[in-house]
Amino acid sequence: MNYIKVKTYEELSKKAAQIIASQIVMKPNCVLGLATGSSPVGTYKELIKMNQNGELDFSTVTSVNLDEYVGLDGTHDQSYRYFMNTNLFDHVNIDKSRTFVPNGCAENLADEGDAYDALIKALGGIDLQLLGIGLDGHIGFNEPDDVFTAATHEVVLDESTIDANARFFASRDDVPRKAITMGMMSIMQAKKILLVANGAAKKDIIEKSLFGPVDPKVPASILQLHPDVTVIYSEE
Ligand code: GLP
Repeated sequence: MNYIKVKTYEELSKKAAQIIASQIVMKPNCVLGLATGSSPVGTYKELIKMNQNGELDFSTVTSVNLDEYVGLDGTHDQSYRYFMNTNLFDHVNIDKSRTFVPNGCAENLADEGDAYDALIKALGGIDLQLLGIGLDGHIGFNEPDDVFTAATHEVVLDESTIDANARFFASRDDVPRKAITMGMMSIMQAKKILLVANGAAKKDIIEKSLFGPVDPKVPASILQLHPDVTVIYSEE
């Protein structure tokens, strides 16, 4: 594992964007696994700059996102599809028909999960998976549990996750209670993983995940078993 500690969020964002850009240069038709949340926003801004300066071409990139809230469609401003459009896809030359986010409004979420895993398989798997981390150690929306779940699946969000994400909604009551998330199989089968985290509040969970026991109660601890993980943590 490559653990990089930096001082500022700006440094984190620049380093993370360089790694993603290198992946695209190395394999222009790569499959990027993308993440939402506040942590990768700066990384996306850097990637947008590179694209708009003519330094980075997204035209043959495919993306698969980690997760989506159940019941929010892509027009809802807190849906993860909307987040991806406004924070990245609308500002770079990616072909939107090759950007995938699980459908949180699917009638049958178990079928949607199976179809999402089949899609990732058909794409040849993920070349580089970008991750954030929740305060409880969740990656995607894989919450602490007795077991690691392999497949894309529906989850009930932890109260602490609802608390953490309430800041984005008009009120806590508006935060969806459920989500659909890529499971550990697709995440861990990615050829490379890049996790970004910032702020003092994340320090403990980062250290527990990276250096504590591998335990589904700390979902990100599974990353210790992956052969090619880079973690960038910034203090601010
Ligand atoms: C959300 C997302 C995760 C994200 C995490 C941390 O709930 N489902 O993919 O990594 O929370 O978010 P933030 O980066 O805003 O702290």
